[in-house]
Amino acid sequence: MIVMGPAFIRSAVREMAGYAPGEQPAPGARVVKLNTNENPFPPSEKVLQALREISSESLRRYPSPRADAFRDVAGKLLGVSPDWIIAGNGSDDLLTIATRTFVAAGGRIAYPDPTYSLYPVLTRLQDAKPVTVAWEKDWALPVAALAASKADVIFLANPNAPSGTFVRPEKIEKLAAAFGGLLLIDEAYVDFADANCLGLVQRHANVVVTRTFSKAYSLAGLRFGYAVAQPQVIAEMMKVKDSYNCDAISQVLATAALEDQEYARRTWEHVKAERQRLSEGLRQMGWEVLPSQANFILAACPGGDGKETYLGLKSQGILVRYFDLPGLKDKVRITVGTVQENNAVLAGVQELAAAEKAA
Ligand SMILES: Cc1ncc(COP(=O)(O)O)c(C=O)c1O
Repeated sequence: MIVMGPAFIRSAVREMAGYAPGEQPAPGARVVKLNTNENPFPPSEKVLQALREISSESLRRYPSPRADAFRDVAGKLLGVSPDWIIAGNGSDDLLTIATRTFVAAGGRIAYPDPTYSLYPVLTRLQDAKPVTVAWEKDWALPVAALAASKADVIFLANPNAPSGTFVRPEKIEKLAAAFGGLLLIDEAYVDFADANCLGLVQRHANVVVTRTFSKAYSLAGLRFGYAVAQPQVIAEMMKVKDSYNCDAISQVLATAALEDQEYARRTWEHVKAERQRLSEGLRQMGWEVLPSQANFILAACPGGDGKETYLGLKSQGILVRYFDLPGLKDKVRITVGTVQENNAVLAGVQELAAAEKAA
């Protein structure tokens, strides 16, 4: 519901609903929370140790404006020099910076639809026009239609949210080559996928790749992400960001997390194996589950009523995400959790099916 604010509010803001984050249970509530795609494991012990060692001096002073120590470590890991990297307060911050860097008021932002529901919000906040292009059959990338969109920016989440589907980098490269504007590839979930688009950044000046610590590094509460692009593009984005957009604690902890690749990779392997098991379990109960390369699955319930399933699971203390949007009403999105959490989902679904049968 949109509640209109006072007349002195910008009309673009007054007339929009704003982004709707997944619901947050009250602190201490006993729920199986699988609605916002967090990593089911705690952050690395090395991150927690770094947190304990935060000095009061580092809090008294302003942090590094460009997260220099983080960029050094990330650059080494990714095989690029630090001037190819910009850090952000979560990858949402980088999406905002990108919108403000590449799109003037009245410009156009295109994205395949459905996708991450923040993109239309950022578009409207920039007084730009959203250009939605439907995915082709089986969530194939509509390369020609997007290339012809006359947009200033294309947002492409890969893996996509909420579908979890993945487009091969070779296909995305065709779009990068054919498109005259800026192609932003949002790789929030890429660590759970088989490939990534970092190579495209080397070959195409019009590609920006964004990443986050919220999913793959178990640090959604920290708020830290980064983008990779050619230095002349990063330099422009640096002008747009807030002066100190990443706080001192987040810079140190994100660096520690990145340095513990071994731990992070173990969590990714667990998620991938459990993703397979959860998908199979649901398929056996008659669900249609999209092939996912993310840490969540989008699944159509046998009864065809996503909302009823969402509410039924919620009444059992299991939170999943339902989107009241065209093409998604028969589905729910489920974050892959621990073995116990995924078992709870499978048992909950079975219970719903039994109750339906008895009715
Ligand atoms: C596609 C996509 N991009 C970006 C984000 C936001 O990530 P962050 O927590 O880094 O802001 C999300 C979060 O759900 C997402 O689904």
